[in-house]
Amino acid sequence: MSTDKVQIFDTTLRDGEQVPGCKLNTRQKLKIAQRLDELGVDVIEAGFPVSSPGDFNSVTEISKLVRNASVCGLTRAVKKDIEVAAEALKYARKPRIHTGIGTSDSHIKYKFNSNRSAIIDRAAEAVAYAKTFVDDVEFYAEDAGRTENEFLAKICAEAVKAGATVLNIPDTTGYCLPEEYGKKIKYLKDHVPGIENVIISCHCHNDLGLATANAIAGVTNGARQIECTINGIGERAGNTALEEVVMILRQHPSLNLNTDINPRLLFDTSNMVAREMGMMVQPNKAIVGANAFAHSSGIHQDGVIKNRETYEIIDPADVGVTESAIVLTARSGRAALAYKAKKLGYELTKLELDSVYIEFLSFADAKKQVLDHDVHQIMELYRKNTRA
Ligand code: KIV
Ligand code: ZN
Repeated sequence: MSTDKVQIFDTTLRDGEQVPGCKLNTRQKLKIAQRLDELGVDVIEAGFPVSSPGDFNSVTEISKLVRNASVCGLTRAVKKDIEVAAEALKYARKPRIHTGIGTSDSHIKYKFNSNRSAIIDRAAEAVAYAKTFVDDVEFYAEDAGRTENEFLAKICAEAVKAGATVLNIPDTTGYCLPEEYGKKIKYLKDHVPGIENVIISCHCHNDLGLATANAIAGVTNGARQIECTINGIGERAGNTALEEVVMILRQHPSLNLNTDINPRLLFDTSNMVAREMGMMVQPNKAIVGANAFAHSSGIHQDGVIKNRETYEIIDPADVGVTESAIVLTARSGRAALAYKAKKLGYELTKLELDSVYIEFLSFADAKKQVLDHDVHQIMELYRKNTRA
């Protein structure tokens, strides 16, 4: 069975950069954009050009730099925003304008003090206006996650009529359950005339820890673009993590979905973004966290030393991690100690291992983690005592 491509739309430089304290300068943004292009993303959302002269400049420079990916600029459904975005994107080989408006009753009432039919008009006008500057126009229905499906289908239909090439269905507040979000995508596929000619995009937030699950539910129900960020950074609890969706699709070939991402660059890209943004990755983060391929309990260590597959579903080398880590703690067994000692140059007989292990345990009980230099110390002490 042939596989379908899911486009990866990276918004690290836009939604990701909205994280308090993560502001990047143009030089840093160019460095990350270059890497995203090498990584194989299909679209780089470079910024929100009307928001500041700095952002305008970054989008302009990224447009000049990027060779392969489309470069996208965000706008509100406001003429001035669209004009400024078009200007910032004018050097891009493949420019995309991303325009849209809030569609949930709460956004319509509290943000716009408006009504549904006026919002449809604004959406259609914005798409049509953006279309006078670029061919590739993505429409977002902000807070689509909490927008009633029938109305969502109506506004999406008008956006398609006005020329949208991509329909973005954001779960802006991270509210939806995966099944609910999947059904929403399916509903749109079944009820929006002309939808077969456009790409449906999933843009999910992580307020309930469901951003990745929702994006996957979206693509298994017919969406063909995922909007995501490196390390899942983004507003509040963040966005869908790029590395997670890419590896889920790779590790589950039965889904028949793939991406053009080079997974071997994932770990290094994660480190680069963490460094540039000054936002460290939590150790237990899936795929790229420091503990993602670290084993510390005796039972797990014994299994992994015998065969990696017992406790690892991904070969660390596939995502650019040199090797799995065996971390020595008081929960480690003899197999892990022997393995580590051997790596450090100590070949132990079974009898020696039994004695050293007793020393090791009393050492480990006093420490959180037994590091390489501790193992050297334990071994030297053992050798000194056995010589005496
Ligand atoms: O979360 C959201 O709704 C957004 C849109 C602006 C696309 O980031
Ligand atoms: Zn968002």
